Amino acid sequence: MKVRINGRIFNIPKGVRFGELSHEIEKAGIEFGCTDGQCGVCIARVVKGLECLREPSEEEEETLWRTGAVDEEERLTCQLVIEDESCEEIVIESED
Ligand code: FES
Repeated sequence: MKVRINGRIFNIPKGVRFGELSHEIEKAGIEFGCTDGQCGVCIARVVKGLECLREPSEEEEETLWRTGAVDEEERLTCQLVIEDESCEEIVIESED
């Protein structure tokens, strides 16, 4: 489904972890490190479509907490998985 990351449009299928597409997604200016939910560098804000993404795992929650993220819209991009395709689009923006 359509995912807009920092203004760039990607077509990402349901069930694929965004970390598997890090080489593509980093072209939109998202930085990746571990791609495994540990380092926290890929943090970004889901400004639209959060309800269509899988809930964060405990591990993601822990990394988010460690990096000081407080809003539920703040997520680790590498850990995102589309679960529900009923959203018109998913929009993600990184801080910089
Ligand atoms: S790249 Fe390390 S947490 Fe996402």
